[in-house]
Amino acid sequence: MTTSAPACAIPAPEETVPEAELIARATAAREALGDRLVVLGHHYQKHEVIRFADITGDSFLLARRGAEATRADLVVFLGVYFMAEAADILAQPHQRVVLPDLGAGCHLAECADIFTVDDAWSQISRAFPDRTIVPLTYMNSGADLKAFVGRNGGAVCTSGNAVRAFEWARAQGDMVFFFPDEHLGRNTAARLGIDPAAPVVWDPRQAELGGIAPDALGAAEIVLWKGFCNVHTGFTVRQVEEARAAHPDVTVIVHPECPRPVVEAADEDGSTEYIIRRLDEMPAGSTVAIGTDWNLVDRLRLNHPDKTVFCLKEDLCPCVTMNRITLPKLTWTLENLAAGDVVNVVQVEEQMAAEARLALDRMLAL
Ligand code: 13P
Ligand code: SF4
Repeated sequence: MTTSAPACAIPAPEETVPEAELIARATAAREALGDRLVVLGHHYQKHEVIRFADITGDSFLLARRGAEATRADLVVFLGVYFMAEAADILAQPHQRVVLPDLGAGCHLAECADIFTVDDAWSQISRAFPDRTIVPLTYMNSGADLKAFVGRNGGAVCTSGNAVRAFEWARAQGDMVFFFPDEHLGRNTAARLGIDPAAPVVWDPRQAELGGIAPDALGAAEIVLWKGFCNVHTGFTVRQVEEARAAHPDVTVIVHPECPRPVVEAADEDGSTEYIIRRLDEMPAGSTVAIGTDWNLVDRLRLNHPDKTVFCLKEDLCPCVTMNRITLPKLTWTLENLAAGDVVNVVQVEEQMAAEARLALDRMLAL
């Protein structure tokens, strides 16, 4: 019922083994596993591990591609816990999903838990019995929240399809209840032509109606959970202004988990897949400032030597939980798998997985 679990035990000396030796050992274990294994890597993973990925992508693409790799019975996920859970929910019955560090959570996903969301749902339903409330959860949420959404007629969305998901939800009812990312919700509302100030914000620390005045909640079309990503809320309008002052021809692209004023100040916003695609499309000589996790920005910089690519925030602290997946932990995982010991399995209980699958399938059908 959680979005993260206790960290796995890694023998301490592994952290001091030279990198070249770890790469050789991980490669040998990977080869020994052959077609039995597919390795999925999210774009925010470090170079030292993503080099082992068979498939790279955003969270939803990876979950789907893992299930499509039917020859593999082992799926190693280079990412964070909610992504591994989603992969397990969509996996084939014979597949097991493994996360090299079970402590790799997600700050944003942990902003909402099943107890406070369930309580909020009950309060809103009791206060406004005539409203049809449609729950929507961001992919960055626990399996228990995806299951909650599934059994209450809602869907999952990602940063890549949030606009379509909101349109769908608005057609199903007259109040959209979106969690856990306030900023993605506000940016999506703006894309739909809704005044970005119009959605009300449910603060789970407030006992009564999330701190929202009853009249305002009763009139609201969109209710956003007060949750945020600690990486993307580090970007500011001032950084955008500084990038423009230093590079008058710069194109600023940010992830929609950034606060609304930052997205407004930027030229474009979109998912990690969108950002990668836009860099591919831009002509040589372009200058691009990017507002998202540092590992991805650095990889884009290396992959586009003909462009000037830099992170909007020079001293950005990368996503610490994504960075918990290290080469020593991956080596330890692959060697155990090759020896027949399936360590660090992420398994969503069947009833929960069935309900969560409903919400994921509704997203797929959009
Ligand atoms: P994407 O789905 O755009 O890859 O984003 C996942 C994420 O965690 C962003 O912080
Ligand atoms: Fe979660 Fe933010 Fe890290 Fe993405 S960047 S995994 S939303 S903490």
